[in-house]
Amino acid sequence: MTQEKIVKIVVRKNGPYRVYGPFQLVDYEDNVFQLPVDREFVSLCRCGASENKPFCDGSHHKINFQADTKATK
Ligand code: FES
Repeated sequence: MTQEKIVKIVVRKNGPYRVYGPFQLVDYEDNVFQLPVDREFVSLCRCGASENKPFCDGSHHKINFQADTKATK
């Protein structure tokens, strides 16, 4: 029996979505975003302030983004 690897997305406190792959990221026309090959994860902006969307560029710190979203148990 093989075990499928699933994508894990971590909702960071006051920060981005951190996505652990493997996965593919595409735009609304199905064009593929190049992902860094040397990292275990990719951070996607959820604050709206990044100048490199859809990626997080750390701007959430500058705007003091506050979101401590937790899953309900
Ligand atoms: S979450 Fe980091 S720049 Fe938006």
